[in-house]
Amino acid sequence: DTPWTDVAGEDEVPAEDVAGFQVEGRDLALYKVDGSIFATDNTCTHGHARLCDGFLDGYEIECPLHQGKFDVRDGRGTCAPITADLRSYPVRIEGGRVFLQLG
Ligand code: FES
Repeated sequence: DTPWTDVAGEDEVPAEDVAGFQVEGRDLALYKVDGSIFATDNTCTHGHARLCDGFLDGYEIECPLHQGKFDVRDGRGTCAPITADLRSYPVRIEGGRVFLQLG
């Protein structure tokens, strides 16, 4: 079984926004939309930009560099210039903490 990794406090993720967290050598982006938390890699698949510096609109994160977009629920690239999807991670909330299956 893939272990669950404690990544952040639930309240460290701002509502309707994105924040970056570095855990076990990975750069991760956590999003909170309508009270639910989603997690993806934080580095854009198109270039060297961090999505935590981008703009979250509903379930869509817009990259700050060339305005590519991803669906934060599954990491799917939703518009040009994105050609590769973002990795997303299963999320579990327990005791006010956010756990991810990093794999
Ligand atoms: Fe993200 Fe180009 S680096 S869209």
